[in-house]
Amino acid sequence: MANMPQAKYRKDYQSPSHTISNINLTFDLYDRMTTVSAISTVKQLKTETSLYLDGEGLQLKEIQISGENWSNYEELDAGLLIHQLPEEFELRIITEISPIDNTALEGLYKSGGAFCTQCEAEGFRRITYYMDRPDVLATFTTKVVADQVEYPYLLSNGNKIGEGSLANGRHWVQWQDPHPKPAYLFALVAGNFDVLRDVFTTKSGRNVDLEIFVDRGNLDRAPHAMTSLINSMKWDEERFGLEYDLDIYMVVAVDFFNMGAMENKGLNVFNSKYVLANEKTATDTDYLGIEAVIGHEYFHNWTGNRVTCRDWFQLSLKEGLTVFRDQEFSSDLGSRAVNRINNVRVVRGAQFAEDASPMSHPIRPEKVIEMNNFYTLTVYEKGSEVIRMIHTLLGESKFQMGMKLYFQRHDGTAATCEDFVAAMEDASGVDLEQFRLWYSQSGTPKLTVSSVFDAEHKTFSLSVSQQTPATPGQEEKQALHIPLDIELYDKHGAAIPLTSNGEPVHHVLDIKKPNQSFVFDGIDEAPIPSLLREFSAPVKLEYDYDDKALVFLMSHAKNDFARWDAGQMLLAKYLKENIARIADGGNFDMPLDVIDAFRGVLLSQSLEPAFIAEMISLPSFNEVTGWYDTVNIEAINFALKALKMNLAKELEDELTAIYHSLYQDKYLVEHEAIGMRALRNIALSYLAFTETGNQLVEQQYRSSNNMTDTIAAMTAANSAELECRDALMADYSEKWSHDGLVMDKWFALQGSNPCNDALAKLKLSMEHDAFSLKNPNRTRSLIGSFLNLNPVNFHSLSGEGYQFAGEILREMNESNPQVASRLIDPLLKFKKYDEIRQSMIKEELLQLQALDNLAKDLFEKVNKALEM
Ligand code: TRP
Ligand code: ZN
Repeated sequence: MANMPQAKYRKDYQSPSHTISNINLTFDLYDRMTTVSAISTVKQLKTETSLYLDGEGLQLKEIQISGENWSNYEELDAGLLIHQLPEEFELRIITEISPIDNTALEGLYKSGGAFCTQCEAEGFRRITYYMDRPDVLATFTTKVVADQVEYPYLLSNGNKIGEGSLANGRHWVQWQDPHPKPAYLFALVAGNFDVLRDVFTTKSGRNVDLEIFVDRGNLDRAPHAMTSLINSMKWDEERFGLEYDLDIYMVVAVDFFNMGAMENKGLNVFNSKYVLANEKTATDTDYLGIEAVIGHEYFHNWTGNRVTCRDWFQLSLKEGLTVFRDQEFSSDLGSRAVNRINNVRVVRGAQFAEDASPMSHPIRPEKVIEMNNFYTLTVYEKGSEVIRMIHTLLGESKFQMGMKLYFQRHDGTAATCEDFVAAMEDASGVDLEQFRLWYSQSGTPKLTVSSVFDAEHKTFSLSVSQQTPATPGQEEKQALHIPLDIELYDKHGAAIPLTSNGEPVHHVLDIKKPNQSFVFDGIDEAPIPSLLREFSAPVKLEYDYDDKALVFLMSHAKNDFARWDAGQMLLAKYLKENIARIADGGNFDMPLDVIDAFRGVLLSQSLEPAFIAEMISLPSFNEVTGWYDTVNIEAINFALKALKMNLAKELEDELTAIYHSLYQDKYLVEHEAIGMRALRNIALSYLAFTETGNQLVEQQYRSSNNMTDTIAAMTAANSAELECRDALMADYSEKWSHDGLVMDKWFALQGSNPCNDALAKLKLSMEHDAFSLKNPNRTRSLIGSFLNLNPVNFHSLSGEGYQFAGEILREMNESNPQVASRLIDPLLKFKKYDEIRQSMIKEELLQLQALDNLAKDLFEKVNKALEM
C-alpha cells in the first residue's frame, strides 16, 4: 500500500494546541457541489503557532485569518497545517463537497431524497477542516440554505434563530446550539418529511417540543417512537434525576444509515429501522428495539453530550454507561428477567467470541487504526457489564451519589473513564482500585468453583479460582476484582442465610485473588449453590453441577435469571455430550428426566409466558461455537437440530396445548401480550418439526393480523424447511416489495435459509427490486445473515460461501468500508475451523490484504487476523 495506515495509542494523548470557542457554519446545499463556509474563533493554548486541522476529501476554496487571505499553510494527506498564526484569531474556511457521491455515509450525504450528516466518530472532517477531536468544545451556529420545494425542512442542532426565503426558489434556516459540543455531535438534515409532534413538560415545568420526522406517507409508523421518547424523558427524571436541557428535541428517520442511531445534540438521526413501526410492518422485537434505541440516544444527552469523551479511547465512558442506562430503562418498563437474559445472551455469545478473536481489546482500547472499528460489543456490552458491576458493588443509592458527583465535576467537559471511576469511588467510599483493571485488561475471565460440605463442622466451603487467557498483545493477566453473587438453598428450596464465624456475609462475594476460599457455617445439610446470580460479572463459570442440582435450581432458585441459567447449563451439558458423540459417529440421545424438567417448565402455572419462552429457547449456533477452541460445524449443527426435533417430539402435546391456548385475536403492544406471542411462537418453532408443522405454520401465516405472527410463521417454515416455505416467501415479497424496511425480514430469511441451494437463491435475491448493496440495512439483512446465521452454507466445503463473502467485501471496501468492516468479522475467526476451511478463508483475507486501495477499516482487521 502506498500509505500504510498509522495506529494511534492511548498513551500518546496530547491536549489540544488551540481551542475553538464557537463556529459559524453556512451550508449551501446542492447534490454535487455543496459549499461549506466555516468561521471559527480560535485561541492558542500552548506554544505552537501552527494549527493542525483535520480534513478528508475536501476541496479547499479559501482561507482567511482575521479577514486576511492566508497562504502560509500546507495541505497534508488528511488535513491542513496553517502556520505563523497569532494568539487569537478568526478562522474563515470555505470548502466544497459532493454529498451525492458519498456512499460511505460518513460526513454529509444523501439518504433517499434528503441531505443528512453522520459525524461520529471522525466524520466532521469530511464536511470542513476542523479540530475534529472530542475534547474541543464549541458553540455551533448553523445556517442551512436549500431549494424550498425539495427541502422544506432545514434542521440543525439547538434552537431556530432565523429563517427566510431567497431568490431562485431557495430558502434558509439558521440554528444555534447554546451548549458547547465537540464536532462529532453536529448534525444537519434537509428534506421533505411528515412530522409527528408532541410536547413534554419537564419536572421543573419547562415545555419541550418533540418532533419526529419520517418519510412522507409514514406518519402512521411514528407513534411508538414518540411514546418511547416520552417514556425515556420521564424515566431519566425519575431514576437518575436528569432533565432535558433544550426547548426542542428532534428525531429524523433515514433509510441509509451505517449503524442504529446517533445522539447529535437536539437532533438525533436514526436508522429508520429504529423509528418506524406499526402492527402490519413491525414485530414485537422491532417495537422493543425502538424503545431501547430511542432511550439510548436520549440518555446520551447527559452521558455523552453534557459530559463527553476526552479522546476516542474513552468511548466506553459514554457507550458502556449509556447501554447500562438503556438496559435499566427497558427493565424498569418491561420484564427485568427477560431483559437480563437477552443481554446476557449477547455478552456470552457474540462478546465472548469477540474477546476470543484477533480483534480482542479492553473496553478502553490502547491502540486504534480506524476508530469506526471500535464501536464494538466489547466497548458497548462488556462496557455496560463493567458499569453494572460497579452498580452491584455500590448499590443503587451510592451509585446515584456517584452519578451526581460525576456530573458536578465534569458537566460541560470532556472526561475520561478514570474520571468516572474516581467519582464513583469518592462518592461511595468503596475501593475500586483493583476494579479498574476491567478497563485495561482484555479477554474473558474464567471462574472455576468447587465446593465441600463438612457435615461434622456444619460448614460449606467454596473455592474460587480465576484465570484470564492470554489475548493478542496481552500475554500476562492480573487477578480482577469480580463480584460473585451467590445463594445457598436447602433441600426444600429455602435460602440459607450466609454466615461466616457466626457473622452475616453479604451475598455478593468479592473475588480478588487468583485463588480464594469462603467458608459458610451453621449449615446442616449439603446445600445447592446458585452461583453468578444475575450474571454478576462477565465471566465464564465452571462448577460441576449434577443434573439433579440443575433441575432443582430450574424450579427453586429465587430469581428468574438463575432459573433460566440452570436450564441453559443443563442444555449445554447434553449438547456438549452429544456433539462429542456425533463427531465420533454416534447418535443423538437425551435422558427423559431432562426432557421432563422442560415439560415441567411448560406446564408451570406460576411462570410468566415471556419467561417460559426464554427457558425453552436453545442456545444459538454461535453461542455453542464459543464453547470450543476448534469448531466442528457439522456436529454442532446436527446436535442442535436433533435437540430441537427431540424436544418437539417428546413435548408435542404440551407445546400444542400452549400453542392453541395462547391465541389472541387482537394485537396489543403490551408486555403481557408480547410474552404470550413469544411463547406461542416459540412453540410453533418446535411444532414446525412435527407432522402437523406444515399445516400449522401455513395456517398461522394465512390468518395472521400482525407482523410478529407472520414472521414467526415464515421463520419456522424457513428453519424447518417446510413445504410451504417458498409459497409464503413469494406471497410476502409480492405484498411488500415496495418497502425496503419490511423486505429486510425477507432478505434475512433468504440469507439464513438452511436449504442446500441457499447461496444460489441468495444471489437471485440480490436481483430483487428492493435490494441494493448501497443500503446498509439491506446488506446486513441478506449478506450479514448469510455470514452469521447460515453456518452450513457459509462454511460449505465447496468454498463458495467464502468466495462470495470475499467478492462482496472487495466491492464494499470501495463503497462503504464501515459496513464492510462489520461484515468481515466471521472471517477473522478462521483459526477456529479445520485446516481446509482455514486455508480457504485465509485465501480470501490475503486477497483483501493485497488490494492497493484497502480501506483503513479492513486493513486493521485483516492484518490483525493474519498476523495472529
Ligand atoms: N454513538 C452512536 C450510538 O451509540 C453510535 C455511532 C457511532 C454511530 N458511530 C456511528 C451511528 C456511525 C451511526 C454511524 O448511539
Ligand atoms: Zn451510544
